[in-house]
Amino acid sequence: MADRYLHLTGTAPGRFLTRRLGLPQPAPLRRWTLETPRLDGPLLHLTAGTSAVAGVAETLSRAGLPLTDRADRPAAIVLDATGVATAAGLGDVHAALHPVVRSLAPGGRIVVLGTVPSPDDHHQAAAQQALEGFVRSLGKEIERGSTVQLVRFPGGASAQAAESTLRFLLSPRSAYVSGQVIELTAAAPDPVADPAAPLAGRTALVTGAARGIGAAVASVLARDGAQVIALDVPGAREELERTADRLGATALPLDITAPDAADRIAAAAPDGLGVLVHNAGITRDRRLANMPADRWASVIEVNLDSVLRTTDELLEAGAIPRGGRIVATASIAGIAGNTGQTNYAAGKAGIIGLVRSLGPRAAADHGVTVNAVAPGFIETKMTAAVPLFIREAGRRMNSLSQGGLPVDVAEAVAWFAQPDSTAVNGQVLRVCGQSLLGA
Ligand SMILES: NC(=O)c1ccc[n+]([C@@H]2O[C@H](COP(=O)([O-])OP(=O)(O)OC[C@H]3O[C@@H](n4cnc5c(N)ncnc54)[C@H](O)[C@@H]3O)[C@@H](O)[C@H]2O)c1
Repeated sequence: MADRYLHLTGTAPGRFLTRRLGLPQPAPLRRWTLETPRLDGPLLHLTAGTSAVAGVAETLSRAGLPLTDRADRPAAIVLDATGVATAAGLGDVHAALHPVVRSLAPGGRIVVLGTVPSPDDHHQAAAQQALEGFVRSLGKEIERGSTVQLVRFPGGASAQAAESTLRFLLSPRSAYVSGQVIELTAAAPDPVADPAAPLAGRTALVTGAARGIGAAVASVLARDGAQVIALDVPGAREELERTADRLGATALPLDITAPDAADRIAAAAPDGLGVLVHNAGITRDRRLANMPADRWASVIEVNLDSVLRTTDELLEAGAIPRGGRIVATASIAGIAGNTGQTNYAAGKAGIIGLVRSLGPRAAADHGVTVNAVAPGFIETKMTAAVPLFIREAGRRMNSLSQGGLPVDVAEAVAWFAQPDSTAVNGQVLRVCGQSLLGA
């Protein structure tokens, strides 16, 4: 559904009027296209004090932007704050960014590099945790479609672990991601044979792929070279086949809650599943006092239990080979809660529990990563059905003052799915424009 307000503020009279009324000023976001694959400008690399991570400059030189040492309209600023270990050291963060923050080009990116707060050194932990508050606040004040994130390294990691993450964050693909904290592991990245088609030779299965976010995920994974299997309920067969035909994908009409779902998925990918995306989801909203058991059960079954069951069965059957990627779909409702959504929010919070617990074990036992996206307000049929007032509130109550598009979630899934995203594991990335809900 068209965002008429965004359109209005894109016109001179509309901008004048809405400014006079003190209303939000959403900046049009620039997404990835074949013609505009990169941000428009150079990358400024700054360091607060001394870096504690080896190889940051080399990794940044491979992030897709030319480097500059001048604060003259950079498209991106990376501040290496990995060496900040005391409260006094935070002064270096201010000293580095204060003079240059205004010069960032519209639609720009600020990425702060930090380290995981130490359980053994409360001064280091305080200083590094301080960066989270800093980043989240800067995300709220930066405006003009720019975004701010924090990437944390574990002790002893080399900057190379962050390469795929920095490529994503410093590109138009992360347009609707802001105020996020990503914590890396020290795992060395798997090689990428062809950067233009990083998923070439891999089969990717996406559930709920007939429409909405799932169709966008299928499309972006196909763009990145994957052979896609698009799964949706048999009742959506026609729409599913249309989507699959458009992408050169295979349609698999199947209810994910079927007892033999994992077997049928494994049979559809006899050479193994390189990427498994749990996207199918339903809502059956009612306040708890009015919610019959069947509405509760169907949401938990589709949104959580079938995800747990198929993941376990596919991993145990060895259907997801080493280097495999599992991506599940949570929601900010699972973080912030939502009236009328005790069932939905419980299921989505369950997804967060699943990825945090299974991620490290799946990596150790199977060489597979497990992550989740947590979309905020995304323009789909699901949100078009939301009453007007709540829909408008959902669109504006985030730092970018607009709803996201299905492709924004899809780009985040594609980043998790990259072969060299090995160090990204057990993470929940909110794709919500830094929604105020659950902030
Ligand atoms: N749209 C948003 O703003 C938003 C926000 C947060 C989270 N999400 C989550 O993102 C995912 C996709 O949402 P969407 O907005 O594209 O929804 P959608 O309703 O447009 O699409 C969901 C798809 O899942 C399919 N599906 C439902 N039950 C299934 C089952 N048992 N087996 C197989 N397929 C099934 C549906 O047929 C549909 O094609 C969902 O998990 C949703 O909870 C969406």
